[in-house]
Amino acid sequence: MSYPPISEQLDDPEGAREEGRRKIDWASGHMPILAALREEFEELRPFEGQRIAMAMHVEAKTAALTETLAAGGAEIAIAGCNPLSTHDDVSAALDANENITSYARRGVEGEEYYDAIEAVIDLRPTITVDDGGDLVFRIHEEHPDLVDGIIGGCEETTTGVHRLRAMDEDGALRYPVFAVNDTPMKRLFDNVHGTGESALANIALTTNLSFAGKTVVVAGYGDCGRGVAKKAAGQNARVIVTEVEPRRALEAHMEGYEVMPMREAAAKGDVFVTVTGNRDVITREHFEAMKDGALLANAGHFDVEVNLDELSDLAANVREVRDGVMEYETDDGRRLNVLAAGRLVNLAGPLALGHPVEVMDQSFGVQAVCVRELVAAHSGGLRDRLAERLRERLGRSDRLEAVGEDTYGPGLHEVPDALDREVATVKLAAEGIDIDALTDEQADYMDDWRHGT
Ligand code: NAI
Repeated sequence: MSYPPISEQLDDPEGAREEGRRKIDWASGHMPILAALREEFEELRPFEGQRIAMAMHVEAKTAALTETLAAGGAEIAIAGCNPLSTHDDVSAALDANENITSYARRGVEGEEYYDAIEAVIDLRPTITVDDGGDLVFRIHEEHPDLVDGIIGGCEETTTGVHRLRAMDEDGALRYPVFAVNDTPMKRLFDNVHGTGESALANIALTTNLSFAGKTVVVAGYGDCGRGVAKKAAGQNARVIVTEVEPRRALEAHMEGYEVMPMREAAAKGDVFVTVTGNRDVITREHFEAMKDGALLANAGHFDVEVNLDELSDLAANVREVRDGVMEYETDDGRRLNVLAAGRLVNLAGPLALGHPVEVMDQSFGVQAVCVRELVAAHSGGLRDRLAERLRERLGRSDRLEAVGEDTYGPGLHEVPDALDREVATVKLAAEGIDIDALTDEQADYMDDWRHGT
């Protein structure tokens, strides 16, 4: 029997749809980049005939992206990309759109999680949009026959890009995928500000505890860690950073944070936030050194950063002390509190809403122009119409360079910078912010290596 869409799984799909629709409308109303792209897609219908398979955190902002792509004529199937990040009401509201089937449901794990992904793959996609890479890997492993029909994909997060890069280096990635995560419009805002704000907000909401005066240990000083550290310091916490990369460690030091190995930080921290994309960052030797009452949260993509198996082995007692907080009591009476089952705290906590809407407008704006770019690369007609449209909207010919100019062979691709600049330009216009433009003389000066003292 095939896996049913969410509407067939819920007791009150109608009620869920209404609530989901309210959430989507609120988010969409604060996403000017997607609104501008939706208008363009409704007019040009670039995705007519395309089938888009998506595996994402199915909440209101993702729904706005999904509906924007559907407005361009795509047929879409979507599943979750994490067992705890789906909002069932949003999923039900999406499923009510005649061009969208949503299989995402909160709380599905293991086999059922992959059943939903399989149902999405049944669409026989021409394009994939992924967060974490599970969809791309499943297609390559279980459905290699579909690869020839796929014109390309987009990957949202660092961990997914990391996996795809490894796949590409092995020559195993058989269709083009854009590394959306790596664009400035995504990374410098979503990872830094989005993760920083939403991870801390969700730790505070889940525990009702303050950061002021506490010691927050941030494991990993990449884009996400940088944001978590900055915002924790902004809430009057002392911040300790742990790293394995010497330049990142030095950067954290120069920002004024204490830097030390986890084995030392373990005894000092009141709150731990892992954002490494790696496994076993906090393990038994660290649990053994921690203070009574320590809070442990993960904001990295997978639930492997805090080793919960080792913590369970150490615990004499485990109980849920608050929604989303599991207390592990050790033999010597210390209580260590794990938030959101060690999954992405900003998306999987009981009250989690994910990143702020404005930030996701940018990330998903890049996703939407990347999907458009994949299609434009295969269609001269669309390419010309888009070029005209962009010229009208942006009035600058340099933005047009990237539109469908490449056919993108199999492998991981950087997003053309012009597309990223297009998204930034739309956002600045929506914010009513004007900026200077280079004069011809300035542009020549910048390009000419002969100028010196
Ligand atoms: P990044 O690659 O910029 O930074 C990760 C940092 O962790 C690197 O500096 C690396 O040296 C360090 N690291 C690796 N192993 C470590 C260890 N054992 N101990 C200490 N540091 C270690 O990656 P980015 O963009 O900061 O992403 C981190 C994770 O967060 C990824 O899994 C990504 O997918 C996820 N992510 C989560 C979001 C959310 O909503 N919670 C949003 C965006 C990304």
